[in-house]
Amino acid sequence: MFTSCFSERQIFFISMRRRRICKFIGSRKGFLFLMVTLPIFYASWQLSHVVGQALIPPPPPDQILHHFRANRSLVHYLDNINLLIEPSSVCQKKVPVLILVTSTPSHFRHRDVIRNTWGKHQETYFFLGLSQDDDRLADAYIEAKQHSDLIVHEFQDHYQNLTLKVGLMLQWALDRCPRAEFVFKTDDDVLLNPRTLDTVLADNKDAALFGYKKENSIPHRDEYTKWYLPRWLYNEDLIPEYLSGTGYIINGKNLKEIFTASLHIPLINMEDVYFTYLVAKRALELPLTHDRRLSPYKPWIFTCPYKNYASIHSLSPEEMESIWSKIQSLGESKFCNYFTSELLLY
Ligand SMILES: *[C@@H]1O[C@H](CO)[C@@H](O)[C@H](O)[C@H]1NC(C)=O
Ligand SMILES: *[C@@H]1O[C@H](CO)[C@@H](O)[C@H](O)[C@H]1NC(C)=O
Repeated sequence: MFTSCFSERQIFFISMRRRRICKFIGSRKGFLFLMVTLPIFYASWQLSHVVGQALIPPPPPDQILHHFRANRSLVHYLDNINLLIEPSSVCQKKVPVLILVTSTPSHFRHRDVIRNTWGKHQETYFFLGLSQDDDRLADAYIEAKQHSDLIVHEFQDHYQNLTLKVGLMLQWALDRCPRAEFVFKTDDDVLLNPRTLDTVLADNKDAALFGYKKENSIPHRDEYTKWYLPRWLYNEDLIPEYLSGTGYIINGKNLKEIFTASLHIPLINMEDVYFTYLVAKRALELPLTHDRRLSPYKPWIFTCPYKNYASIHSLSPEEMESIWSKIQSLGESKFCNYFTSELLLY
């Protein structure tokens, strides 16, 4: 097959050695040799490419946060971000608790599992960001049409843009569902237990904000952690208190003042520290109420304690499905009714 690898005229000029190579390639042995070596060459070339890519560090978050250097006013962002998709009608009935879930374009599976498990039990909406020219926008339209629970804004969906996403969420809630009694901000890897949630809401009905309170936390100053909080955004050495962003609840009565105050407080990239500490606690002097049933963790043993949690964090969609069905059966278990597992809560 390679006998014609050189033209007659070239063959005249090439040396005997090269002619032998040409002959070898043309032979059956040569063919086999190529069949074996070419894939190996190709694979190692690909591998070196992948390894090379992995060795190039991602851009430091400082660079990603750069746009905050130009303007840290929430109103500046909200004015420039378009709403691309939203359900045509929301909050038709009385809403005891409006659940707002931060999601991301690729998390179809997370959203589907939530819709089929705890999401069925209360008004639940998912928020994500996409740009107009993103191919995934078409999928988002289809998903939105099917489920009427998707809200898409035009911005880059990135972890470091979470504060903007939550700002957009609160704005949307005020516009579209102003009479919700409570607004629950959570993430798509959190499982809610509607039964316990009802008790938690009843127990905290007069609280302005409640959730899992963290006290005297030290901000992460290492650029490469997900929770990097640079000094130029937050200069203090401690965060005195804030409610974990995995699930905090705002009383409907306080939603407007919190949103309005946030428009004038310089943004930081940590959404929970921003809204619950900087805006609610520090600027408005609203108390933050701790409730350990809104857990930012996954319980360390699986028995009755699961029943005592209103939210559990850090679950894959598969775990969420299996824990959901277990919680359903625990609901009927007499054993768990007698067993006070409060002690096992974190
Ligand atoms: C940030 O944006 C707001 C609203 O658009 C504007 O009023 C303000 O002057 C801007 N700040 C800076 C530092 O550019
Ligand atoms: C966050 O969103 C803003 C507004 O769309 C954009 O300018 C900025 O680049 C985004 N940041 C990241 C890290 O995607």
